[in-house]
Amino acid sequence: MAIVKVSEILKMADEANTSVIGFNCTDYNMVASVCQAAEITKIPVLVMLYPEHCFKNKTFELESFVGMFNGLAEKCSTPIALHLDHCSDIRYLLRAIKAGFTSVMYDGSNLPLEQNIENTKYVVSVAKEFGVDVEAELGHVGFAANSEQEKLDLYTRPETAKEFCEKTGITSLAVAIGSAHGVYKQTPKLDLERLEQINNATDTFLVLHGGSGIPADQLNIAFRKGINKFNVGTEFFQLYYDTVREFCQTNGDKGSIIDLPIVVQEKLTDYLIEKMQLSKF
Ligand code: 13P
Repeated sequence: MAIVKVSEILKMADEANTSVIGFNCTDYNMVASVCQAAEITKIPVLVMLYPEHCFKNKTFELESFVGMFNGLAEKCSTPIALHLDHCSDIRYLLRAIKAGFTSVMYDGSNLPLEQNIENTKYVVSVAKEFGVDVEAELGHVGFAANSEQEKLDLYTRPETAKEFCEKTGITSLAVAIGSAHGVYKQTPKLDLERLEQINNATDTFLVLHGGSGIPADQLNIAFRKGINKFNVGTEFFQLYYDTVREFCQTNGDKGSIIDLPIVVQEKLTDYLIEKMQLSKF
């Protein structure tokens, strides 16, 4: 059985001086492709769910997503873990823990520091009772469309990171060092010196968000300088939608639409196999 806790994979990544990749998934096709890629590459991986994809976009019920993940991942021999991404709603986060998520991200990065610390501390205390890992964010990783990655005052400060990790007891910390969610307007430039300082100041696993579009050479350095979890969403979703559109344009009126999942999963798995080579386990 390959289902493990996120913290187990983070430890493996830390020992190998590399990073596990977490892929945002919305449905069966995406999760099945991640499991398939893990089985082929033998590289540990994470499946992540954005809460709003359930409560807003209606892609899945939170509880049934866990069942679907478990059903697919337990057949793999490579370590795979499930993680709830960016959740600012503590009640929803507790529902996820009850549903079986063994790792959650509490995102209080929009709050004043003291409030972020207070809320994160509370989440950690509850999560601990259930043996659940907690990721939190300090500084603010914004959206590429807003060019927020250029706002230096939103970057994580090493001394505050130390205080935040010590006071909250989190498993992992998402850092703002120049990446952003979505499609970059120009090639991002990670503040790798700051990353090194944060890594030296804390004993906590570090996470890089906004993974789509960051050049591999910067990622390789970031992984060596302390990033142990790396999140990818936008480019994975985009490939999915492009593949569906192409398939429907070619086959939509031929009655073979039923083959769509096979075609999509093949295409996504090929992408994942290549992307996962960034992880040097
Ligand atoms: P991208 O969508 O930019 O790849 O970022 C994903 C992410 O950081 C999820 O938390």
